Amino acid sequence: MNRVEDLTEGLRQGMRSLASGVCVVSGLKDDGERAAMTASSVTSVSDDPPSLLVCVNKAARMDDVLFHSEYFCVNILSSDHQDVSEICATPETGEERFSVGSWSRHEKNGLHYINNAPAVFICHKQRVVDHGTHSIYIANVDEVLVSDKKHQHLVYADGRYHYL
Ligand SMILES: Cc1cc2nc3c(=O)[nH]c(=O)nc-3n(C[C@H](O)[C@H](O)[C@H](O)COP(=O)(O)O)c2cc1C
Repeated sequence: MNRVEDLTEGLRQGMRSLASGVCVVSGLKDDGERAAMTASSVTSVSDDPPSLLVCVNKAARMDDVLFHSEYFCVNILSSDHQDVSEICATPETGEERFSVGSWSRHEKNGLHYINNAPAVFICHKQRVVDHGTHSIYIANVDEVLVSDKKHQHLVYADGRYHYL
C-alpha cells in the first residue's frame, strides 16, 4: 500500500475505487425555471420515515436551487441514460439538459422527472447540513415511481461509466 500525502487528492483517488450508482437531481429555481444535475452521492438514510440524502458541492448551481426549495426530485439512471448523466454534469449547460432523454412534468408539484428512469423519488427537504465544500440535503420521500422495464444499471467507477 502507498500513503497519499495530500489528503484531498487521496480522498478523490480512493473514492474513484468506490463504484456508485448514478442519479440526476432535478428541481425548480425561484423563478420556476427547471434545473438538473448529475449526482452519485445519493444514499438512503432511514426506512421510517423513508428518507434519503444527497451531497451537493456549494459551487454547483443546484446547491442554490435546493437550498431555496422545499421539494426536489431524485432520478436513478440506467444504462439508457448515460447521455443524460453526461449533459447534467457539463458546466455551462442549463435548459438544454432537458433536451436529452425523455422528461415529464409532475402535475402536482411541477418538478421534472425522467419518464423511463428505473426509479424516481419525489423528496421533501427536511434538513441541510453544511460541511466543508458541500451541503448535505436530507429529505423525506413523498412519492416513488418505478419502472417495470428491464434495465442495466449505470455505474460510475474509476472516473468512467460502466453498465451492470
Ligand atoms: C458520475 C458523476 C457524479 C457526480 N456526483 C456529484 C455529486 O454527488 N454532488 C455534486 O455536487 N456534484 C456531482 N457531480 C458533478 C456535477 O454533476 C457537475 O459538477 C455539474 O456540472 C454541476 O452542476 P452545474 O454545472 O449546474 O453547476 C458528479 C458528476 C458525475 C459525472
